[in-house]
Amino acid sequence: MQDKLIIFDTTLRDGEQSPGASMTKDEKIRIAKALEKLRVDIIEAGFPIASQGDFEAVKAVAEIITESTVCGLARALDKDIDRAAEALKPAKSSRIHTFLATSPIHMREKLRMSPDQVVEHAVHAVKRAKTYTDNVEFSPEDAGRSDFDFLCRVIEATIDAGATTINIPDTVGYNLPQFFGELIKNLIENIPNSDKAIFSVHCHNDLGLSVGNSLAAVLNGARQVECTINGLGERAGNASLEEVVMSVRTRRDIFTCDTRIDTTQIMNCSRLVSTITGFPVQPNKAIVGANAFAHESGIHQDGVLKSRETYEIMRAEDVGWNANRMVLGKHSGRNAFRSRLEELGVTFEKEEDLNDAFSRFKDLADKKHEIFDDDLQALVSDALQDSANEKIKLVSIKASIETGETPKAEITLSIDGEEKQAKAEGGGPVDATFKAIESMVNSGCDLQLYSVNNITNGTDSQGEVTVRLDKGGRIVNGLGSDTDIVVASAKAYISALNKVLDPSQKAHPQL
Ligand code: KIV
Ligand code: ZN
Repeated sequence: MQDKLIIFDTTLRDGEQSPGASMTKDEKIRIAKALEKLRVDIIEAGFPIASQGDFEAVKAVAEIITESTVCGLARALDKDIDRAAEALKPAKSSRIHTFLATSPIHMREKLRMSPDQVVEHAVHAVKRAKTYTDNVEFSPEDAGRSDFDFLCRVIEATIDAGATTINIPDTVGYNLPQFFGELIKNLIENIPNSDKAIFSVHCHNDLGLSVGNSLAAVLNGARQVECTINGLGERAGNASLEEVVMSVRTRRDIFTCDTRIDTTQIMNCSRLVSTITGFPVQPNKAIVGANAFAHESGIHQDGVLKSRETYEIMRAEDVGWNANRMVLGKHSGRNAFRSRLEELGVTFEKEEDLNDAFSRFKDLADKKHEIFDDDLQALVSDALQDSANEKIKLVSIKASIETGETPKAEITLSIDGEEKQAKAEGGGPVDATFKAIESMVNSGCDLQLYSVNNITNGTDSQGEVTVRLDKGGRIVNGLGSDTDIVVASAKAYISALNKVLDPSQKAHPQL
């Protein structure tokens, strides 16, 4: 009988802390549903005190998710813990995750607290969280650079106060696998009440070692790993869920534990997170990169054809690669459309949203006869975005290019329900389009990134455009897709504007 390795997904919290990855409530709900289908044990849905938007998002996830525990983050402050508890009230199963830094540099420079005060605050925070739920996690932030004896003291005290999970964060990604593994082993061996809590790890990827450190910790007794889809997260990111899960699954000969993850859902989650955040997955990324199962060299191709195991340690279909099969076409009906979306974890609360998405699907099927899952995800993103109460909507667009002529665009927008029109010229049709939009909105934003990816292969593929805007340090990503990349670009720009101009959206997910 193997031990259970708990998978704690923090895509919606730490993942959201990547600049520009901030998500709306509806986007968080879509990802949370996909994570539930992936069978993650715990979904950290956000940091409720950070903003009204984050509070609402955690609450909405808590209302909808039934098969995973929903967690909210809180500093070791009463107001944070109370707010997290309030957001988590509707959850069938909830956890409060509270944290306080324990490294000398953080205590001295950031907290301006003595070690004794840190212990006192941490214990108080855990006790307060316990008044709301039995399931309390405590993280000594920057544990990876903390003094060992002090760390033991804080952990022993917080377990005595009722923490049921102790999470050891390598907050700045400073640790190396061998030493991090030993740290976990030594903590478990030296802390007298360590058997009363599950030990967890939360590793950042600043040296590219987050997965290595997490796995070393598991080999030394950790039984929860905190991770994110595609390794999204603050700075260089967190340990990637798919890499941790597939390492443990593939090397059953070494690991004595396993997760309950349905690995066939990995690709679906990866694509969804990439589409929603606008962070493309690098082609050579392990497990989910476009080249992860591609064999280019003749020797490899020959070997794989003779026996797959010559060059493959995992099967592409086990992580959901083949699930992106051609699903629907021009003649597919509404029921087939609805049921494929349900398989992808997408359900519509309102019948009119389903109807709208279905009519977009029909339009797309007229332009592109093979519709793949990625097309459907992009289409749903667009439909949900438009149905939201957004300030700016695209009504129509006319863009023209001609050899020897200056590219032009003519745009009609609906701004707060009122139609406005503008024309502009630019270096290309996309430039002209953005200039025409700006002449009506005057957002004062800087364009930080503009990128186009084709969603599937072929020249009839939909282009997926990411636009990143910066307004006074507040960074947002907007996404748009269409078979016409000028239209996709206009949609992406407008989506970013709607996020940046929405006062309920937070400046940065972590205060
Ligand atoms: O990196 C970190 O230390 C964190 C904590 C809040 C767990 O994200
Ligand atoms: Zn973190």
